[in-house]
Amino acid sequence: MSSLLIKDVRLVDALGESYGDLLVRDGVIWAMGKGLVAPGVPVLAGEGRTLLPAFVDLHAHFRDPGQSEKEDILTGSWAAAKGGYTAVSVMANTRPACDRPEVAQYVRKKAEEHAVVEVYPVGAITQGLAGEELADMEGLAPHVWAFSDDGRGVERPEVALAAFRAAAALGRVIFSHCESRGIADPRLSEELMAGRDLWLARWTGCRVHIAHVASPGTVELVEWAKARGVAATCEVTPHHLCLEGEYRVNPPLCDEAARKRLLSALREGRIDAVATDHAPHTPEDKRRGAPGISGIETAFPLLFTHLVREGEIALSQLSRLMSLSPARILGVPKGRLAVGMDGDVVLFEDAPFTVTEDFFFSRGKNTPLLGQTLWGKVWATVHRGDVIFLAGRVKGRDGDDHRPVG
Ligand code: DOR
Repeated sequence: MSSLLIKDVRLVDALGESYGDLLVRDGVIWAMGKGLVAPGVPVLAGEGRTLLPAFVDLHAHFRDPGQSEKEDILTGSWAAAKGGYTAVSVMANTRPACDRPEVAQYVRKKAEEHAVVEVYPVGAITQGLAGEELADMEGLAPHVWAFSDDGRGVERPEVALAAFRAAAALGRVIFSHCESRGIADPRLSEELMAGRDLWLARWTGCRVHIAHVASPGTVELVEWAKARGVAATCEVTPHHLCLEGEYRVNPPLCDEAARKRLLSALREGRIDAVATDHAPHTPEDKRRGAPGISGIETAFPLLFTHLVREGEIALSQLSRLMSLSPARILGVPKGRLAVGMDGDVVLFEDAPFTVTEDFFFSRGKNTPLLGQTLWGKVWATVHRGDVIFLAGRVKGRDGDDHRPVG
């Protein structure tokens, strides 16, 4: 936790916009306004750049333990910082899976000791994500905020019911990967399980969060449930909003009609959050058909380029989707520029850059965006007053050059 005075920035969050300075003291936003002074506090000259609350990612795969050739907690956290994120929820499909307390404790300890961002583990619903026996949900609960077999749906209804009951009793969220194997149409496959899980949430009183929605029909189901008092939320990924084509990802990219409907739902405020589903893979695994996009570093530029610059949504609405709403779902005091909130901010430039393999701090370079030009380059990321990324350099990876002067 540090103190930092950021001068001369356009301050934008979900609720408004102003121009001036922002002071973080001991890790918390202390003041905002014009001409702030704070003797002895390091100064970061914003030089007219735009400052937003740092992003919160509800859905990423850091592959640690077990597949550090794809990513580990350290490289994942560097990538997150470069992408403007300061808090990341990481999925349970590691090796071994996060189906017992020791694995969640390992993730938390390694993150606390080494990561430059906050890392929040998700526990598995079933042992080994096999969909049969429940994981040690009670043992996991103190270490995780949600339970998910993400990467697979929990097929058996009696197993899903037992999981919803257990999560409700433990006060945790079921983070639902909706995919019914055996149903060839990916949209129906998603909607069927989303409908079931929303109904189970209604039946058990459990909170439910629907992962990577790719079907507009699922948005309707979530709205239906919300209207009946179900504690339901949903997320959509940058790639399902902005990309079409054959690049392999699960769920598959939308066709144009579905993508436009998802975008309308987003514009109308019917989708709660954007989450990256950052899924790094090696080139060999990608060639063998592994689904996923290494997306935590390109999420903001992709959305800024396709949605904000194209006039689809305002920057403040993007801030709600990437910061305020996910922070509320995760339950962390972040996501707004307001006195008393965590001093977590991101500064970016409305400037173009080309996505190349060298761009990535993530070990995963798997993206359909290689060679493309995007706008909205993250310039600095601040976590609780500590500058963790500045002008292309991240704390820990590139020495101490990221530090501000003053
Ligand atoms: O594309 C995906 N990749 N979707 C998932 O649900 C899992 C993820 C992964 O773990 O690679």
